[in-house]
Amino acid sequence: MLKGRSLIEPGNFSLEETESLFSLAEKIEDDEQYLRESCRGKLLATLFFEPSTRTRLSFEAAMLRLGGSYLGFAEPGSSSAAKGESLADTIRTVSCYADAIVMRNPKEGAALLASRYSTVPVINAGDGGHHHPTQTLTDLLTIKRLRGEIKNLTVGFCGDLKFGRTVHSLAKTLARYENIRLIFISPEELVIPEYITRQLQKQKVPFTETRNLEEAMPRLDVLYMTRVQRERFFNEEDYIRLKDIYVLNGEKMATGKNNLIVLHPLPRVNEIAVEVDNDPRAAYFKQAKYGMYVRMALLASILGVI
Ligand code: NCD
Repeated sequence: MLKGRSLIEPGNFSLEETESLFSLAEKIEDDEQYLRESCRGKLLATLFFEPSTRTRLSFEAAMLRLGGSYLGFAEPGSSSAAKGESLADTIRTVSCYADAIVMRNPKEGAALLASRYSTVPVINAGDGGHHHPTQTLTDLLTIKRLRGEIKNLTVGFCGDLKFGRTVHSLAKTLARYENIRLIFISPEELVIPEYITRQLQKQKVPFTETRNLEEAMPRLDVLYMTRVQRERFFNEEDYIRLKDIYVLNGEKMATGKNNLIVLHPLPRVNEIAVEVDNDPRAAYFKQAKYGMYVRMALLASILGVI
């Protein structure tokens, strides 16, 4: 169904297609042998023009676990981008070598542009402060695995909602599920972009905006913490002023529901105190593992081996 398709933003896949990826990822998690070797002979290009730990390594691990191989670069300084090559030319070239391309780039819209020049599917692993659709697949699979279903939830997003691409992709996608309420918790300077809130209004998804994490805490079923995106700030002073504005600690966790799930796309800086890691409601490292399963499901699907 997804064979040959690109994933630039979460809306590219229907709800049914997204759900089919979750079922596949669940099968892979339950049976480590399932789809092993299914991508033998296939090559994935991982082009990372921005730093990454989880996204790149989970894609590479996913490809290796499926029996395929990968090639690429983890920083643009080692590619011809450093000599001034355009993204279009890089993509035209790489699509001669690989069966699919995963790309992270600091420019909003870069993945869409890449998909226009590529002859193979392109997966957006983050384009600037815009979208990060495979993180959304990861986040939703984690919620599904831990709660059984994705509906009837109050989800709080906390931190840098302006530049946080994982927030934009997840909020837009949650709007497609039943009975979802969103609470956006951020300082004035880092509020959720209007193009997201306008869409939520259009879809009649109830949401509120607040500055206060303490006040929101007891109402939440899912708390999605994010780091302040230093690399997207225009000046360091603003970053320093805002970076520690929210810190989730044991005291705040004590006011949360017993079945709360705390998610974070990671990397964490200071926004979740290390003491929270031992709380059974902290799910961010499990989330990182689900990211690999769902990327295995995605690669097997778009490469057409399933
Ligand atoms: C996120 C990203 O790159 O947007 N990281 C990730 O892929 N898990 C979040 C972040 O960098 O803060």
